[in-house]
Amino acid sequence: MPNRLVGISPMCSSECGSFCLQFSSMAAPPPDTRSQRAKVVSIRPSGSDGVVLSVRPSTAFGRLDAGRFFMLRGDEESSPAIPRPFSLYRQGDSGILEFLIKVIGPGTEALAESRVGEEIVMIGPLGHGWPELPQDGKPLVMLAGGIGSASFYIALQQALAGTDQRPAVDPGQLHLIYGGRTKGLLYDIEKFEELGIAVIPCTDDGSSGFHGNVVQALEDHWRQSLLPSDVRLWTCGPEPMMRAVVKVAEDRDLQCWFSLETYMGCGVGICNGCAVLTCKEGSLGSWPVAKCCVDGPVFAARDVQLT
Ligand SMILES: Cc1cc2nc3c(=O)[nH]c(=O)nc-3n(C[C@H](O)[C@H](O)[C@H](O)COP(=O)(O)OP(=O)(O)OC[C@H]3O[C@@H](n4cnc5c(N)ncnc54)[C@H](O)[C@@H]3O)c2cc1C
Ligand code: FES
Repeated sequence: MPNRLVGISPMCSSECGSFCLQFSSMAAPPPDTRSQRAKVVSIRPSGSDGVVLSVRPSTAFGRLDAGRFFMLRGDEESSPAIPRPFSLYRQGDSGILEFLIKVIGPGTEALAESRVGEEIVMIGPLGHGWPELPQDGKPLVMLAGGIGSASFYIALQQALAGTDQRPAVDPGQLHLIYGGRTKGLLYDIEKFEELGIAVIPCTDDGSSGFHGNVVQALEDHWRQSLLPSDVRLWTCGPEPMMRAVVKVAEDRDLQCWFSLETYMGCGVGICNGCAVLTCKEGSLGSWPVAKCCVDGPVFAARDVQLT
């Protein structure tokens, strides 16, 4: 958890007590965060309404942790003034960063319409990503809904590659259950399959893979003994989906983490636009609210409430 400066908000003249005191706590952005321009290197379609935007930042980054994000803003004229948050999707050896973007409004449209050679603004890397995997041999099941898959690619890649401190994870221990309403919303699924792990597609309309949602696919795998019962769950996608995953984790007493996609204003802990309620008994419980941008976006399920 980041360091915080705690004090009564200078804006507050009432006696609102502990809520004001705690909500006004300032959390600093990570020390490696910087604001810079990045050149668009390529842009290609993905799924029915997405793009993969590849950019070369003016200053290259070292290895970035999976699950962290950047605030991105496209062309000055067509983009909204406030940058939008996007998970890092892939990091190339030559300094190129890739983002998997579902086009839903003006910010994502402006990014999707960027041309090769143009520059975008990027602030990051921000937030805390997925936790280190303990070396206990417990399989990891990632449950992604639609564009929620974006932060899982680099997590899988890093787990498979290992580091100086951590041995590589056996591909047989890694599973991705990837769901969407329909086939076209399983963005870049072939890239995940190329990693050599078990990828289980599922769609609400049955157009690809298992006919049903990710939780039904998980339960079906347990029923058929295709997965051991004691697994670790990571999830990212629409909140109703993540709530269902958390419920399964609670019912079966499984460790569970999720990555939240809240609305964000600043991305660096200033605006309080990304507040999430904490769980009293969790590790953030001494604060009534956490800031998704600096305390997350990845949280242990026992630490914050999904509303
Ligand atoms: C940490 C983080 C990582 C993210 N990673 C990705 C990613 O890798 N790829 C990706 O495509 N998107 C990602 N998102 C979501 C992305 O930031 C939003 O889709 C984007 O801000 C939309 O901007 P816009 O201007 O295009 O649309 P807006 O005009 O801002 O929104 C269009 C519509 O979508 C709704 N909407 C916008 N943002 C959200 C949200 N967070 N939750 C629910 N509804 C929303 C709005 O209410 C509106 O109805 C991430 C969000 C967070 C917080
Ligand atoms: S405090 Fe501004 S987005 Fe989190």
